Amino acid sequence: MSATSAAAKAAVTEPLFEPYQLGPTHLSNRMVMAPMTRSRAIEGNVPNPLAETYYRQRAGAGLIITEASQVSPQGQGYIRTPGIHSPEQIAAWRKITGAVQRAGGKIFLQLWHVGRISHPDFHDGALPVAPSAIAPDGEVFTAQGPKKMVTPRALELSEIPGIVEQFRKGAENAKAAGFDGVEIHGANGYLLDQFTRDGSNHRTDAYGGPVENRVRLPLEVTRAVIDVWGKDRVGYRISPNGPFNSMSDSNPRETFSYLTQRLSELGIVYLHTFDPPSGANHLAPHLRKLFKGTFIVNGGYDKASGNAAIANGEADLVAYGVPFLANPDLPYRFSQEAALNAPDQATFYAGEAKGYTDYPALVG
Ligand SMILES: Cc1cc2nc3c(=O)[nH]c(=O)nc-3n(C[C@H](O)[C@H](O)[C@H](O)COP(=O)(O)O)c2cc1C
Repeated sequence: MSATSAAAKAAVTEPLFEPYQLGPTHLSNRMVMAPMTRSRAIEGNVPNPLAETYYRQRAGAGLIITEASQVSPQGQGYIRTPGIHSPEQIAAWRKITGAVQRAGGKIFLQLWHVGRISHPDFHDGALPVAPSAIAPDGEVFTAQGPKKMVTPRALELSEIPGIVEQFRKGAENAKAAGFDGVEIHGANGYLLDQFTRDGSNHRTDAYGGPVENRVRLPLEVTRAVIDVWGKDRVGYRISPNGPFNSMSDSNPRETFSYLTQRLSELGIVYLHTFDPPSGANHLAPHLRKLFKGTFIVNGGYDKASGNAAIANGEADLVAYGVPFLANPDLPYRFSQEAALNAPDQATFYAGEAKGYTDYPALVG
């Protein structure tokens, strides 16, 4: 055997390059492109036509999870994020899913409602909604520039079914747009996470207080999305230790163990955990044991630590964010031990092709 073919053989037997069956969805490898907001949507929060190229370039991922996409106008909190609630948005997403699938890739949409991480500028002056009237720290970038976040309005009990319906409709629209499945955004301090963690949920009704109540809305949303897609095409994302967006919980281990067990019972196809292994109180290995479906880890992984996570049984799939943003051909580069492109933070959010579709690839 030549040195080159020996290297190629070694590469294909590494865990990251093994194919994987995610329910009915066949993945060509175990590398997932993590969801990443790129703030390039056009008028009407329609995905940028360039997004078709951007996602197709990354179709070598076993699975692409799209940037978070608001399920309703109420669910928006950043400028130029795409939605999944209008016919124009669905039509634009349909082009993207087709391009990825024709290139041999698989693509899930991330369903999003920001809750309190918003501003009245997005809502004709109305307050953003949240479990409780507790203001997050920090600023949001609106069409009028950066603005301090406000104290949101606590959702009335009677409004909760409407939130579930927003997610259900978003799931239906994602189906019409040709996705392979959907990921419910329960991470990073947005609406479902705001309900889940007790730092942001001070409700005294059936949706607040003990963890059983705090996860009621996330589970209702999950059931509604399962109704649309079937459980084997629905994933859920959590960030159990993430402080981003003024988040806290008095007992993350208890909170996220409970949520994980309930999601496992519902039979969703995967749980996606942003929980960097370097972080204090790293919970992913514990949650992995509580979840019977596919477990995806994310947060600062490279090739070696990704392979190790699968080999050690800590994960089935590994999601890469910034490495995929900057390297459209990341699986190929990993397989060849090739150098990676450096990410350009200045073009992460907003702009056009620069820092979006112009990162060089070694193949394809
Ligand atoms: C530009 C950018 C946008 C992001 N947008 C989202 C998002 O829309 N939804 C989400 O769940 N996480 C989002 N994240 C977090 C990533 O999915 C991922 O958790 C993070 O980059 C850590 O993974 P990494 O170390 O492999 O980059 C974003 C991260 C970046 C850098």
